[in-house]
Amino acid sequence: MSTAVETPRKVGVVGAGQMGAGIAEVCARAGLDVVVCEAGPEQAAAAWARIEGSLSRAARKGKLTSETHQRALDHLRVAHDLGELADRDLVIEAVVEDAATKLALMERLDALVGPETVLASNTSSIPIIDLGMATGRPDKVVGMHFFNPVPVLPLVEVVTSLKTSEQTVETVTALAAGPLGKQVVKSQDRAGFIVNTLLVPYLLSAIRMLESGFATAEDIDAAMRLGCAHPMGPLELADLIGLDTTKAIAESLYEEFKEPTYAAPALLLRKVRAQELGRKSGRGFFAYDD
Ligand code: CAA
Repeated sequence: MSTAVETPRKVGVVGAGQMGAGIAEVCARAGLDVVVCEAGPEQAAAAWARIEGSLSRAARKGKLTSETHQRALDHLRVAHDLGELADRDLVIEAVVEDAATKLALMERLDALVGPETVLASNTSSIPIIDLGMATGRPDKVVGMHFFNPVPVLPLVEVVTSLKTSEQTVETVTALAAGPLGKQVVKSQDRAGFIVNTLLVPYLLSAIRMLESGFATAEDIDAAMRLGCAHPMGPLELADLIGLDTTKAIAESLYEEFKEPTYAAPALLLRKVRAQELGRKSGRGFFAYDD
């Protein structure tokens, strides 16, 4: 006899960059009790401004009722001490796409949350088994991969390592498909999961095409928007994802599969060195002044 899955009510989100802020926002919109943890007081204040601003924009556009807007704000708290996550049922980490940072964070979270707490990672490509084995609860460690912009894109990839329990998968699937209103697809624990294994070689090909002088950035993007009805061209999309994140995913894919198609092109490496990281830094393949 199957028992009903209890969806987590108290959620923690670590990191409030574009992904973490979006995840916190959709959780707060769903009426969950959310604590977002950032690295320090200034970053926490910026996180609050980012999430509050996005919720207010949605309310102004009539996408949220004033009650839902107020309830989301009432149930959202920002913190800069991981200890504030001690009572959470689920913690979703969305810190920088760097294996050492994520492993150290998982180890710290494991030491401070209760034994039943599920630890999820929004990693795009780092093996979930590595994150699980950094804790004493690999059965409760799972990938929960959202897509940018999180309030708009309906997909969550749920990624299971060899150690993730069926109950953990059911818990995060019930949350994503239930209160968060997302569509879930399941992927095995391979670098890139489903989406990035298909998407990133395409983005890297566009960068190589630009690098070789084959076509301009504007024409590459216009071709895919107008010829294939993609909402964004590949270079603008890489800028949205972040060129540092795109590079990190490419490196994880290359490390896993050793296929030349996953190797980060020199132009991408140089852009990251130059801190031209895309939309978030104001310049990537295109310039952004908003
Ligand atoms: N937060 C909330 N809402 C947002 C938003 C944000 N950051 N950005 C856009 N929106 C909303 C707008 O408010 C607007 O809503 P309404 O139609 O209700 O007014 C709607 O989205 C459309 O926005 P715009 O009219 O401003 O612009 P657009 O039509 O060009 O859409 C877009 C913008 C939604 C970003 C669209 O271009 C798009 O879907 N692009 C592709 C994005 C994509 O592929 N993301 C996946 C990246 S891969 C990833 O994230 C995972 C990884 O691991 C790398």
